[in-house]
Amino acid sequence: MTAFVSAASAYARYRPQYPMALFAGLAEHVGLNGTQTALDLGCGPGTLTLPLAALAAHVHAVDLEPAMLAEGRALAAADGIENITWTASDAAELLDLQLPPLDLCVMGKSFQWMNQAQLLTDLDRLVTPTGTVVLISTAARSTETRPDWLDVIERTCVTFLGPDYLQANNPVAHPAEGRDEVLRASPFSTLHTKTWEQRLTRTLDELVGLQLSFAHTNPAVLGDRQPAFERALREALTAHNPTGAYKSVVPIEAVFATRP
Ligand SMILES: C[S@@+](CC[C@H](N)C(=O)[O-])C[C@H]1O[C@@H](n2cnc3c(N)ncnc32)[C@H](O)[C@@H]1O
Repeated sequence: MTAFVSAASAYARYRPQYPMALFAGLAEHVGLNGTQTALDLGCGPGTLTLPLAALAAHVHAVDLEPAMLAEGRALAAADGIENITWTASDAAELLDLQLPPLDLCVMGKSFQWMNQAQLLTDLDRLVTPTGTVVLISTAARSTETRPDWLDVIERTCVTFLGPDYLQANNPVAHPAEGRDEVLRASPFSTLHTKTWEQRLTRTLDELVGLQLSFAHTNPAVLGDRQPAFERALREALTAHNPTGAYKSVVPIEAVFATRP
């Protein structure tokens, strides 16, 4: 069982889809034309996997958390998508999975949970000579684009979980800061970064549901405080903005890493 087990259903329901422009950029940069074999590592409920399956011949979706894979399988079945293989595995065991040669490995918000240098060494054995590793994440927001309702959420989290709630419930193995240095020291040392701006408007329900998808405020962390937490969050957000439409601008970043 991982930190994501109790977050899986809220993750599938309330995390936003990645923008279609990201997939158009991915297709263009990597030259996807429906013939490629891809790996989505740390696939969660298939946030990248499902749209990627329309651009590749086959996608191997791997995640440590079976509850996440169950959400992904259900979404794929509902959409009639059949070119995905879902496998429960730790990224550390990748070489044992009998994967075919990979044209592409994508990781959406998952690289920071992994033993990065070892993983890139393993991917060097699996990814074809001209293949690409792509790390996709939400980039840091500038103070100008930080939505003010985030402060309201943070205050409620601190009230319920204490001032150290983020650190106390964040088992991330590697911080994002060192990411590019790790890539440059790896076989995939040629980097190309692209960003897209995603504009979102969420309802109150979506914003409250979103909190349950995070490692630091998922149902397992909240325990029996969850109903009171949700109530307090609704009250505070409604007092802050009674319109029920919560806007944000999210920078989505893709780092394309290839061999020199
Ligand atoms: C933040 S979610 C990202 C899900 C999805 N890729 C996305 O872009 O929204 C991170 C995922 O990485 C998975 N994960 C964490 N550590 C892992 C590991 N060592 N091996 C495989 N998956 C892992 C978690 O179970 C979780 O589903």
